[in-house]
Amino acid sequence: MLNGLDNLRVFEDAESLGRAAAEQVLRIAGHHLDASQRFTLALAGGTTPALAYRRLAAATAASDWSRWEVFFGDERCVPNDHADSNYRMAREALLDHVPIPTERVHPMVTDPDDPETDATRYEDLIRERVPTEDGMPVLDLVLLGLGTDGHTASLFPGADILRVQDRLVASVYVERLGSYRISLTYPLLNRARHILFLVGGESKAALIAELERGAEPGRYPVQGLSPQGTVEWYLDRAAASALS
Ligand code: 6PG
Repeated sequence: MLNGLDNLRVFEDAESLGRAAAEQVLRIAGHHLDASQRFTLALAGGTTPALAYRRLAAATAASDWSRWEVFFGDERCVPNDHADSNYRMAREALLDHVPIPTERVHPMVTDPDDPETDATRYEDLIRERVPTEDGMPVLDLVLLGLGTDGHTASLFPGADILRVQDRLVASVYVERLGSYRISLTYPLLNRARHILFLVGGESKAALIAELERGAEPGRYPVQGLSPQGTVEWYLDRAAASALS
């Protein structure tokens, strides 16, 4: 179980959070590319990561992008050009601006009307493309956000996916939103070498303070993570404003 906020860093504002996050992603990528042929990462959706993606896109010379392989932590079941698509957000902020080979960028959604098939297909893809350790794919880096209800990726409170232990990717119906999503599951997220949370904004401050104090176990989906790799929390000052 995730308990407290490991390796917490607070940045002045959203812009400096984005800049620091981009620098850390490049640092982690460089470390892995020194030792292996490819760097595998799963991008977070939502709005917070967009600034970090734009900063990454501005650092075109900073990495051997041809050796990156990009997955997603979760996706809304909408077309890839839809305004709500995490893939579209990442494409506009980053993927259209860096030379990652198209065949190494993996949107989650193929058929927005068939989440279950898309989830199964994505699991097959991850098993095929991500190096494994004792039979389990191990992503080098996973970027995650945090919702005010304590969800991360699309691990939402009360959703069946919170109990999934035998799959790497699953579809999830989000009651509160009345829509389907696809998400990486706890077993796959837990095996990542690094998890970097990016959390910004005043709306997250109360939850961040509760998690730091040690919220009641099982209260929030994010606590259900048991990461085996390193975890870092990058916050802006607004999201950290209720910390003691
Ligand atoms: C999504 C995200 C989701 C997001 C949080 C925080 O598809 O919406 O994957 O888990 O990270 O909801 O979103 P913000 O960064 O927009 O606050």
